[in-house]
Amino acid sequence: MNYTQEELLAIAQKFETTGSITGIKPLGPGFINDTFIVKTEGRDASRYILQRKNHLIFPDVPGMMKNIELVTAHIRKKVTEAGGDPLREVLTVTCRKPETMTAMEKEDPAGHLYYKDEHGNYWAMCLFIEGSVTYEKADTPLLCYKGGEGIGRFQAQLSDFTTPLNETIKGFHNIRWRFSQWDESIARDAAGRVKDLAEEIGWIDSRREEMMAFWCMVENGTIPTRVTHNDTKISNILFDDKGDVLCVIDLDTCMSSTSLNDFGDAIRSYTNTGAEDDRNLDNVNMSPDMFKAYTQGYLSQRKGNLTDSEIENLAFSARYITYEQVLRFLMDYIDGDKYYKTAYPGHNLVRTHAQYRLLQSMEAQYAAMKNIVEEYAK
Ligand SMILES: Nc1ncnc2c1ncn2[C@@H]1O[C@H](COP(=O)(O)OP(=O)(O)O)[C@@H](O)[C@H]1O
Ligand SMILES: [Mg+2]
Repeated sequence: MNYTQEELLAIAQKFETTGSITGIKPLGPGFINDTFIVKTEGRDASRYILQRKNHLIFPDVPGMMKNIELVTAHIRKKVTEAGGDPLREVLTVTCRKPETMTAMEKEDPAGHLYYKDEHGNYWAMCLFIEGSVTYEKADTPLLCYKGGEGIGRFQAQLSDFTTPLNETIKGFHNIRWRFSQWDESIARDAAGRVKDLAEEIGWIDSRREEMMAFWCMVENGTIPTRVTHNDTKISNILFDDKGDVLCVIDLDTCMSSTSLNDFGDAIRSYTNTGAEDDRNLDNVNMSPDMFKAYTQGYLSQRKGNLTDSEIENLAFSARYITYEQVLRFLMDYIDGDKYYKTAYPGHNLVRTHAQYRLLQSMEAQYAAMKNIVEEYAK
């Protein structure tokens, strides 16, 4: 739903800003991502980011905001200790004005971090980091390197974070859970498509054991659990005007998991020479240069601090995450295209094939990927 300027101003005014609010406008091309920029004037006036949080994707917005508060407080301490700028090198969450809070909100341990409006939508605010730059696509090895460096630094800053975080998205990257959904989906055969998919289902079945073996190492602690970002795309990293990483943003998905999932997901998206739904499979490949650049950037921040099991399985995590995506696209196709938005009939099957080609490319280059990891982990 669209909000009027007056409604948006009233929402922004629930939060504690320095300076009085003078304007609010959508950031980026329209209302797509529900991000607004709030202008204030007066002494110490700053700009702010106001966001409507998608509670359909994140059913527990209070839990999510609590995670963000804990994680950013931890990073802020690290940045300050290192002599950095705590207002630019980490997100600063803006709290509610106490006088706008109800008694119930005051009792809620996350009540100061969000506002729930009369339509049931959740809003949160943070400081706008001035002079920052974002990129939509990591299309050069240098940006790939910087992306790896940004996520690596984020993980390094949180390597001694021990407070349990809320699991805001259940079963994220948990292949055991995905397989249970998968088995049900095949048995249900909701769209009557299973009979035509013997080959594609074979791709999933033939790798099931090795994928479970990886996840078992996470479950039994062989691969440690750390704080992970879970949405590592380049547009979630802010850079300064010299092109250096300032901080990682969009912390909505921040949870505990294996840090390898962040690595694998970044490799899946950064290194693909084609599109996620490329119809021309010849376009799709894992670029070894991009892999090398991301790995180098990531390990520049993490080498010496990862366990042997993490180093050993880092390259495999790219196969794991890509495989999971093949499974998810194919499962949605089998279910009758219920989850992913499709632009044309068969779109999910096209995506399945394109991600499978990427997986095959990773499998073919796996030995080289492992060598690259070993080289930069030294
Ligand atoms: N604190 C901030 N300072 C400066 N720019 C920001 C800030 N937060 C978000 N942005 C900009 O807004 C964009 C969208 O914000 P993000 O939190 O990533 O939302 P989404 O969930 O829509 O991706 C970012 O890519 C960045 O360009
Ligand atoms: Mg984002």
